[in-house]
Amino acid sequence: MKKHKICCVCVFTILQTLDLYLSALSAWLVGEGVTKTSPPHPASKPHTAVRSWGHPLLGPGLTWLPSLMTSPELGRPQAPPHASIFRTSKALPPSCQSARGRSSRMADLSPYLRQPWRTVHGIPMVCAFALGWERIDTFQSRPEDIVVVTFPKSGTTWLCEIVDMILQGGDPEKCKRDLILNRVPMLEFAAPGEMPAGTELLDAMASPRIIKTHIPAHILPKSFWENRCKMIYVGRNAKDVAVSFYHFDLMNKLHPHPGTWDQYLEEFMAGRVAFGSWYDHVKGYWERRKDHPILYLFYEDLKEDPRQEIAKVAQFLGKELPEVALDTITRHTSFKAMQDNPTTNYTMVPIHLMDVGISPFMRKGTTGDWKNHFTVAQSERFDQDYVQKMAGTDLCFRTQI
Ligand SMILES: *[C@@H]1O[C@H](CO)[C@@H](O)[C@H](O)[C@H]1NC(C)=O
Repeated sequence: MKKHKICCVCVFTILQTLDLYLSALSAWLVGEGVTKTSPPHPASKPHTAVRSWGHPLLGPGLTWLPSLMTSPELGRPQAPPHASIFRTSKALPPSCQSARGRSSRMADLSPYLRQPWRTVHGIPMVCAFALGWERIDTFQSRPEDIVVVTFPKSGTTWLCEIVDMILQGGDPEKCKRDLILNRVPMLEFAAPGEMPAGTELLDAMASPRIIKTHIPAHILPKSFWENRCKMIYVGRNAKDVAVSFYHFDLMNKLHPHPGTWDQYLEEFMAGRVAFGSWYDHVKGYWERRKDHPILYLFYEDLKEDPRQEIAKVAQFLGKELPEVALDTITRHTSFKAMQDNPTTNYTMVPIHLMDVGISPFMRKGTTGDWKNHFTVAQSERFDQDYVQKMAGTDLCFRTQI
């Protein structure tokens, strides 16, 4: 035990030294401005740090993530591997560094990649997001904010693009002005030293803001309820969510590795996944919609008749759109269109954070894919447990369309 502790101290000291070394190296390679003036959250001035990068696919002048690293296919300048991660490791509390050195791979030595969940108000949370959660609890909403809220893997990005398209009057060119991550920031997102935190992007944003979040109703910042902000919730059947979340955990290094599918399914059912219990999440907003302006949509309905659901969203937001605009939005937000759209397909996230080589962010976008993953035994066990967890609610999901 003692030996182990000493060893950890050694590793930590070596890493601290490496940190300084890599900072110096990266300063030399990418120029003084980037490294020296970068605060722990380099994005606290997103618009100065970022604009100059432009977007390789979208042209100059568009905001870009101020990461030093990026996916190689975008052909952008590369800093020395992991320099930016190490640069900010000191700012992190020790609890996030507990699993440091577990793996021999360099990337896994980062203070928050592949770390266990950290509990926030009783909810398992992505380690990198959990740091400094006060920024979430004290977040100030604006009455005109539009909140897109879902359990993960339920059509979040889809709805975000739909809402932005509606606000832009159905003009696809206007929606290509920036990456979806910047157009619709994710409230709780944080990856210190890598990408701007959601709260930082939102603070700098003009109204009306579209805000994406996965936070369960009972721990959503109070300000959203007080300001009676409009919320659009998307629910998706639990079996497809479990399959999708499993693939997401495989590729998203900000999450712990999901293990085997069988192991993962147990974790999902027990609510030991990011943002906790799917069952509590869908029920929480279903209840709140009785006393708060929440448009509650279903992924399966969106698949079945996207145009009709898009019209519902527009109506909810008080936007009258010509028929032709509805057609354009429907086309522009199809799975295929969003998969090919560089502002929505998540190719922009650095490959060491989300490895789209393992599983693409836009994977299948279908209903009923669970049948390709659940065994008959797993499905039966899941259904039995489901009935108990969903007892007493009139909320119903379709597992096929
Ligand atoms: C994202 O879109 C770009 C541009 O259309 C394309 O080159 C790239 O292959 C897409 N990425 C994925 C993972 O589909």
